[in-house]
Amino acid sequence: MNTDSHNAIVSNQFSPMAHSYLTSPVHANGADLDQMVNLVGGRPDAIALDMGCGGGHATFRLAPLVKKVAAYDLSESMLTVVADEARRRGLDNVAIQQGAVESLPYPSASFDVVVSRYSAHHWQAVSAGLAEMRRVLKPGGLAICMDVISPGEPLLDTWLQSLELLRDPSHVRDASLGEWCGLLCAAGFAVGTVTKFRLRLEFAPWVERMKTPESHVTAIRSLQQRAGSDVTQYFAMEDDGSFTVDTVLITAEVMGNNL
Ligand SMILES: C[S@@+](CC[C@H](N)C(=O)[O-])C[C@H]1O[C@@H](n2cnc3c(N)ncnc32)[C@H](O)[C@@H]1O
Repeated sequence: MNTDSHNAIVSNQFSPMAHSYLTSPVHANGADLDQMVNLVGGRPDAIALDMGCGGGHATFRLAPLVKKVAAYDLSESMLTVVADEARRRGLDNVAIQQGAVESLPYPSASFDVVVSRYSAHHWQAVSAGLAEMRRVLKPGGLAICMDVISPGEPLLDTWLQSLELLRDPSHVRDASLGEWCGLLCAAGFAVGTVTKFRLRLEFAPWVERMKTPESHVTAIRSLQQRAGSDVTQYFAMEDDGSFTVDTVLITAEVMGNNL
């Protein structure tokens, strides 16, 4: 039996693969990143935070727009990759910090922009993470949440979470858009704009990035072969196991005074 905590499982999953997340095309590019850049625009005096920065792709796109970016993650190895790559790119305004999103080591109302991308579905306590996001954001500041989302329908939801969990034990839950809005409101945010995207996951790199054991790869392929047409069509499942998921970018602002 595994006696590790969930956060230890997350760190153990990501740390050995930190460099793969830097080079992964799925993570390095995306219309969501382009939209994030447009939304943030030029804010030369702003301080930004990237919660669950992983290989740092949101951090690297934010850094030229703002005064300083705090790149925050559970995994020390991810942070080392981010610091090295920031140096290589000549981005001298990136400060790394290790820790869990559920307990941020920053003062209240200390950031103008807070983003999080492809990380929240690993958080053990997403409500606590979003409460911390709200606490550290200045009134009038901008929060941008980007993640894979569940289609919401029970049939499709169960299939998505099952494939994700078989691939990676650090997966907690792809929330639906409705769940995201409820969680953000409960944390004290006013939801702004919502933009949906589709993201194709190429099967071989998708399992290689998480070092999915062969037995689980076989289980995923077996499940996919038994899926009904509603599921295969929704996720555009391909013969090699590649499939397509929904992602979202949600903007939110702090409601009222958070001090
Ligand atoms: C898929 S990677 C993030 C990708 C990255 N944000 C990007 O845009 O390319 C997920 C990251 O979230 C981090 N993470 C997961 N749960 C976390 C938590 N509770 N606190 C802090 N970081 C967490 C993991 O360590 C991992 O580096």
